[in-house]
Amino acid sequence: MTMNNRPHRRVILSALSFVVCSAGLGIMPSSLAAVSEVRVGVILPLTGDKATFGQESLNGLKLALEKAGKESPTLNLKVEDTQGTPSGSAAAVNKLIATDKVNVIIGEVASSNTIAASTAAQSAKIPLMTHASTNDTITKGKDFISRICFVDSFQGAVMAKFAVSNLKAKTAAILVDSDSDYSRGLRDSFKSAFTAAGGKIADDLVISYSQKDRDFKTQLIKVRRALPDVVFIPGYYTQVGSILRQAKELKLTTKFLGTDGWDSPDLFKIAGPAASAGHYVSSHFAADDTDPRVQEFVKEYKARNKENPGAMAALGYDAGFFMRAAVKKAGSNDPSKIRDAISAMKNFDGITGTITLDPNRNAVKPAVIVQTSEKEFKFLTRVNP
Ligand code: PHE
Repeated sequence: MTMNNRPHRRVILSALSFVVCSAGLGIMPSSLAAVSEVRVGVILPLTGDKATFGQESLNGLKLALEKAGKESPTLNLKVEDTQGTPSGSAAAVNKLIATDKVNVIIGEVASSNTIAASTAAQSAKIPLMTHASTNDTITKGKDFISRICFVDSFQGAVMAKFAVSNLKAKTAAILVDSDSDYSRGLRDSFKSAFTAAGGKIADDLVISYSQKDRDFKTQLIKVRRALPDVVFIPGYYTQVGSILRQAKELKLTTKFLGTDGWDSPDLFKIAGPAASAGHYVSSHFAADDTDPRVQEFVKEYKARNKENPGAMAALGYDAGFFMRAAVKKAGSNDPSKIRDAISAMKNFDGITGTITLDPNRNAVKPAVIVQTSEKEFKFLTRVNP
């Protein structure tokens, strides 16, 4: 059986059992019969310095819905560009709810943007499911907010353990993007896991940069002076690409540890030859994973988009099938019922792993560790929660 008909089969089975149960009780499944369309708002950074994230997400999402076919109810996408900012994300949510009357929302990508978006969605009681935002706080105390990706307390610990166990690192520095909730959260989770495993991080080697910065040499020179065993950089590809390039210019050869925000084809364009240094990066998916389900997706994605899919494309694809399954299970376009169906999802067979939502509506699933080479990431290992 191929990966692509699995979500399908489950959807058909659960829809059937709903009809059968309802018929047995003598109740007409009126909501299921009535709803032919669910309006799905999609908020993504289609412009700005995280634009590859938005474009890849949308490519993946559209591919999933195309493959899922026209089976009713159809998911009618209303896409809004957030321009990659928190205020743009909140405005996009408000517009989608007030004007487009969406029943549910998918997005954003960067955690700071999703935090702003989720406050707006929660107060309107419209469910928002992010496919990619990993900061732990996003779903806390917000019962309409969920995610199909892992959280940063897991991601940070994965990289800290990898540094200690596999790279035998005893000391580390951290470069933190001080404008990002994502980066600050990962700084904390990496630091506590690395320290708990016996590693040391000197206070003055937790060094900040800003998303507006173009020159990272002051920070890198500090690192070069201390020469820690590894440098953890939980950042986004636009800044990280420049950091890699400038580190090479400074002849800093320390191994870097990255996180999912590195996962963009543009990282290699910005970093140039500096990417080939073999840095280790945690992510959700690797295009060279030999799993046949992954390979089928890679082939189809590449045929349409002329490039290999990154983690973001894979998460967008999983979000499409996941949302379809949830809407089918809800049998309704009522936002509260869709919320309940999302929250109850167990063992959803995605290409980024098997997805089960925990009681706080966060996905419990594996991470992969990939390594940078000249032009792409290479799969190294998978780490289970
Ligand atoms: N996890 C990142 C965040 O929360 C977003 C991201 C996910 C980026 C996957 C790349 C790949 O900000």
